[in-house]
Amino acid sequence: MSNDPLYDTIGTTYAVTRRTEPRIAAQVWAALGAARTVLNVGAGTGSYEPPDREVTAVEPSAVMRAQRPAEAARCVAAFAESLPFEDQSFDAAMAFATVHHWQDPIAGLLEMQRVARRVVVFTCDTTEQNWRRRFWLTRDYLPELAASPVGLASEFARVIGARMEPVLIPWDCVDGFFEAYWRRPEAYLDENVRRGISMWTRVGPDVEQRAVRSLRDDLASGKWAERNHELLDLEAAELGLRLLIA
Ligand SMILES: C[S@@+](CC[C@H](N)C(=O)[O-])C[C@H]1O[C@@H](n2cnc3c(N)ncnc32)[C@H](O)[C@@H]1O
Repeated sequence: MSNDPLYDTIGTTYAVTRRTEPRIAAQVWAALGAARTVLNVGAGTGSYEPPDREVTAVEPSAVMRAQRPAEAARCVAAFAESLPFEDQSFDAAMAFATVHHWQDPIAGLLEMQRVARRVVVFTCDTTEQNWRRRFWLTRDYLPELAASPVGLASEFARVIGARMEPVLIPWDCVDGFFEAYWRRPEAYLDENVRRGISMWTRVGPDVEQRAVRSLRDDLASGKWAERNHELLDLEAAELGLRLLIA
């Protein structure tokens, strides 16, 4: 396992734009059922950790651990692929927006199942191409992402025997992940917003600058609005994000 977690480099400003979106948190917490003890894997700064249960966090990046609020749950430095816990030692294990970063996602998911009686994972389904086709940012500005296996929710669900629930993204989502600003395109012109989204690092600076330039031009000319006017009346969007519950 790498001793040099990516988020030690890209995570320094994570907490500026990434925080708990209450409507999505409610869906995650409902999926945890009656679990009293919860392991949060790839926990980052602690978003989505339920306040009313006994949480243990796992996070390999020291930079991310350092941004956890003082009152956040205790956090262990470890990787999902090798969880330092006994079999079935938690009622539930959760993983939010992290599986696509794991070196071996399947190994990590099986580890979650080993240590917990219930598993809840938030990730995205790219297998039906819905994320790539429906989301204008990938469709019109970042076509290179079509070749990248960002998250294979259906494959992960099969491995752990999970059911999948769609997670709709509210138009004013307060957690600044990749899809969060689908109705607020100007947000992607903001460097602070992009630095909270690993996808922009993944594509590299040249592609990033090209995409931002192109989006800025289309917003100024009215082309973005012309192509995407039907989004402006939507309260929430289905962009292929999924909750896996096993
Ligand atoms: C996008 S952040 C999500 C953090 C948090 N779950 C949240 O929702 O804000 C992804 C996190 O996964 C962590 N991560 C990367 N590889 C990991 C691995 N193999 N095992 C556990 N966590 C990992 C990163 O260090 C980073 O904190």
